[in-house]
Formats: sequence, structure tokens, C-alpha cells
Amino acid sequence: MTAIHTLDVGLGPRSYSIHIGPGLLGDTARWRPAISGRQVLVVSNTTVAPLYLERVAAGLEGLSWERLALPDGEQYKNMEHVARVFDTLAELAASRDACIVALGGGVIGDLAGFASACWMRGIDFVQMPTTLLAMVDSSVGGKTGVNLPAGKNLVGAFHQPRMVVADTDTLATLPVREYRAGLAEVVKYGALGDADFLAWLEDHAEALDGRADDVVAEAIARCCAHKAAIVARDETERGERALLNLGHTFGHALESTCGYGTLLHGEAVAIGMCQAAKLSTRLDMAKAGDGERLALLLKRLGLPVTPPAGLDPDELLRHMRLDKKNLGGRLRLILWRGIGRAEMISGVDEADVRAVLAD
Ligand code: NAD
Ligand code: GLY
Repeated sequence: MTAIHTLDVGLGPRSYSIHIGPGLLGDTARWRPAISGRQVLVVSNTTVAPLYLERVAAGLEGLSWERLALPDGEQYKNMEHVARVFDTLAELAASRDACIVALGGGVIGDLAGFASACWMRGIDFVQMPTTLLAMVDSSVGGKTGVNLPAGKNLVGAFHQPRMVVADTDTLATLPVREYRAGLAEVVKYGALGDADFLAWLEDHAEALDGRADDVVAEAIARCCAHKAAIVARDETERGERALLNLGHTFGHALESTCGYGTLLHGEAVAIGMCQAAKLSTRLDMAKAGDGERLALLLKRLGLPVTPPAGLDPDELLRHMRLDKKNLGGRLRLILWRGIGRAEMISGVDEADVRAVLAD
């Protein structure tokens, strides 16, 4: 039987626990104590709610609660749909001790988390992630927010959840491309800071791709332990937390250049990590063999490692110049000195980046 993993994010009085394993949505005794008030709003979407909301509902007996199923998609992660959460909270006459439960992937977690950061200047929320990406990344660490027409995640708040409940049974219905996109974020943790974990992923690549319960749960727990440790040291990204963006500057440029929806975020990150590795080699920071090893693992997990053909390197570079990490008009990138040793590098020469993009 697959074990339940429990770990903590240590943030003093705002510390919380993360629970990972099968059957957790139905394990009311485990998560109900995270809800202290009498009013609850479960925010989900039209894909996830019909699959899993009843499991959560069974645990809300005796409370005054409401459900809201938003339309499914990144294009709905915006202020209009935050306002729908506010309207539903108003109908519920939600007071300061109300709680939002976010049931879904990263889109729902980010949006519902942001609404909970704003309602009455901040109420509790519980993350119930249902995608692999949300289980290993977005549900942990308190980054919440929505997109504006001007750009992605431009409005947001750091607001930590009361608990994270990652029921791995929900991954059974996740489309294969979405699942594999989550695996890219799993590999990221090994690549950026844990060579032993990367070796473990190499040993378990087939089991991971086959969604073997115990291996998937262990991988999620190891990723969450990494993220929890980084968030505990650098909650608001003054330094070390930026390492979690390995492959993301290249990846975001690819997503924008190809048009959102062409590449999933995790697919773009997989390619972006390989480009970051190539640039590190070009700058004599790391051996080419490390990048080749990373690419091989990503390929075994069904992920792309090279960009679609025909992209304009100058357009990619233009997008990279807009990255939030840049300083003083110069590129600041997460590169590495080899597997498990990522570093933030300032003032990277654009000619070197362009050469990698044109490769
Ligand atoms: P998503 O939330 O759009 O989910 C992907 C798709 O899977 C959706 O169609 C969804 O309805 C569906 N789905 C979800 N769970 C399912 C299940 N169990 N079975 C069947 N279908 C299911 O995408 P995502 O990849 O989970 O999250 C991406 C979002 O996360 C982006 O908006 C990104 O900005 C954000 N993000 C936030 C952070 C953070 O730290 N806050 C980190 C990484 C990403
Ligand atoms: N996903 C990056 C972070 O949480 O900082």
C-alpha cells in the first residue's frame, strides 16, 4: 500500500503541513481541522468539480458551504473570475473566519489563493491540488495571483495556505501531456539542487512515466521537501527562491513566441532547462555531459528537449529581456555548474544567449 507522506513548511506561526498520498480527499479527519470557521467556499473548475468535488463535499457536513466551478483554462485566471469568487463569498456572507478550498490545478490554486488573500484583507485557504504540477510546485509556497491583459501573473500576493492536501488518486484522470508537463518540474528539483534525487529519477523513470503510485508519491514528497526548505529560508524571493525558476526564462520566451497553448508550461521548462545547461557549458561553467544527461532523462519521461523549428532567436531574446529577474537592463539567468548546482548569474552577455537560441 502507498504510504502517506506528511511534511511541514516552517514559517513560524504561519507554518503548515503538506499531505501526499492516495485517498486523501476522502480522509476528512486529516484535513477538516485546517478549517477553523463555519463558512467554506470550494473553488474548482468545470473539469475537476464533476470528478472530485463530491469527495470534498462529504467532509464539509455541518458547515455553511458553497461551491463555485469556474470555466477551465489559463485564459480565465483573471480579475473577472476573482470577482466571481468575491461575489460568491458575499452571497455566503463570508466573515473573517471563512475558508476557501482550492480544488484543481495551478490555475485554480493561484486564483482562489489570491481571492483568499484579498477577501477582508486575508482569510484562510486550503490547497487541494489535482495536477502533478500543482502538487510539486504551485500549491506550496504561497505565491498566488492572476494574469492581466498586459502579462502573466502581474497581480498577486504572497499568502500561505493553511494546509496542502495532495490526493494522488486524482492523477489517474490527468491527461498524459499534463502529467508529463508536471514531470518536468519534478526533474527541475534534481537539476537545480539535488544530484541524488536526479539519479533516483533516472532509476525510476519508467515507473514515473507509468504513474506507479508509490514512486509518484515519493517523488512529490521529495519535491515538496525541497520547495518547503527553500520557502522557509526565502519566502518572498529575495534570493535563493529564484533558483526554482531554472529553465523558466528560456521557457517563458518559448511559450510567448510559440503562442500560449502551443507548448504546455512544463514542456517549455524542459526545453528551457536544456538551453540553460547549454549556455552554462558555453560560459565554461559546466560540462556538456551534465546537460546531455539531463536531456536524456527528460526524453525518457516523454518531454521535448529542443525548441520547435523555425523560431526567431531575436524574438525569443526580446521576450527574455522582459523577465522579472533582470536587473539594470541586463539579463539575469538561472544557470548551473552541473547537476544539482544551479546559480543565479547576472549580466549574461546577450551574444552568448543568442548563440544558444540560434543553435
Ligand atoms: P491547470 O490548472 O490549467 O490544469 C491543467 C488542466 O488539467 C486543466 O484543463 C485542468 O482542468 C485539468 N485537470 C486538473 N486536474 C485534473 C485531474 N485530476 N484530472 C483531469 N483533469 C485535470 O494547469 P497546471 O499545470 O496545474 O497549473 C498551471 C498554472 O500554475 C499556471 O497558471 C501557472 O502560472 C501556475 N503556477 C503557479 C506557481 C506558483 O508558485 N503559484 C508555480 C507554477 C505554476
Ligand atoms: N514556482 C516558483 C516559486 O514558487 O517560487
